[in-house]
Amino acid sequence: MRVGVLISGTGSNLQALIDDDAIDVACVVSDRAQAGGLERASRAGIESLVTADEAETAAFLDRHEVGLVVLAGYMRILSAEFVRRFSGRIMNVHPSLLPAFPGAHAVADAVEHGVRVTGVTVHLVDDGHVAADSGPIVLQEAMAVSYDDRAENVTERLHEIEHRLLPRAVRLFSAGGIEVVGRRVRVRDEHLA
Ligand code: GAR
Repeated sequence: MRVGVLISGTGSNLQALIDDDAIDVACVVSDRAQAGGLERASRAGIESLVTADEAETAAFLDRHEVGLVVLAGYMRILSAEFVRRFSGRIMNVHPSLLPAFPGAHAVADAVEHGVRVTGVTVHLVDDGHVAADSGPIVLQEAMAVSYDDRAENVTERLHEIEHRLLPRAVRLFSAGGIEVVGRRVRVRDEHLA
């Protein structure tokens, strides 16, 4: 399955997808010209586009015939129209245990809140994505937080989890291993680790 990846920043999650031999990253869209992930795409010979325009983004993804759109640190909230166009085929990675701490500052918000457990969520994006980071949860992994932790080192540890969890969720989706039942996601038995 061909995968289109939307980024806004460093693109370490994009890199994890590129590095997975079982995943075919067909194209990359960034809403920021300075995004470090663009360099990663070009090094891997993957065509990329810089635009913040949804219609251009959708046309580019269609041209590359992607079966799945992955938001890998894409910090723009998509319109309900865009989400409906790729209905059930958009996946997002988020650095908290959703529905706790949605939004752009999840790690700092969780650490400031004093949580003892946080983690990573990979979810499908529904057209209620007008509220950031919403939709059926595919995979989650929890991690302990101690009193001495700071947002920086928590981010580092969460990244390690993301780089494992996101490719795994993409592989599951591509293999048809995921079934959405209302708000809940069933991972078909044969695909359970
Ligand atoms: C990741 O931690 C991702 O979970 C987060 O942005 C970071 C991007 O890092 N996404 C969100 O906060 C979405 N609300 P990267 O550019 O190195 O992949």
